[in-house]
Amino acid sequence: MAIRNVVQVGDEVLRQKCFPVEVFDEKLHALLEDMKDTVKKEQGAGLAAPQVGILRRLAVVDVEEGYFEFINPVIVQQKGEQSGWEGCLSVRGKSGIVSRPMKVTVSYQDRFGEKQLLKAKGFFARAICHELDHLDGVLYIDKATHIEKS
Ligand code: CO
Repeated sequence: MAIRNVVQVGDEVLRQKCFPVEVFDEKLHALLEDMKDTVKKEQGAGLAAPQVGILRRLAVVDVEEGYFEFINPVIVQQKGEQSGWEGCLSVRGKSGIVSRPMKVTVSYQDRFGEKQLLKAKGFFARAICHELDHLDGVLYIDKATHIEKS
């Protein structure tokens, strides 16, 4: 287990489309453990693989509802809308107002490759949408209507 360096905005790795995870092995589990250590240490609500320089479709989310690992996630349903503040470990010292769905249903695989389905709402849904955007090279600053120093 180790803390990984979080890539900052301006690095091209944050702007690429990630490839699916195909192998659910020890190496993947080690990466997930490192991402857990890193997001806890940085006190983030989530972290996506490209933020640690890995172009694979996986992200972790750490919110009130618990700690979650999403591998090859896809939002299969969304409802409503919410507008609120967001920050990102790859965009230090800033926050912005972003519109997101109020509720999402996400289909994904767990660390063993088993298919899972999860419903989330409020900030949890926001965190999932933010992390999934990272897997397509999208940052919240691309969508924010207002950005401030924080
Ligand atoms: Co982010």
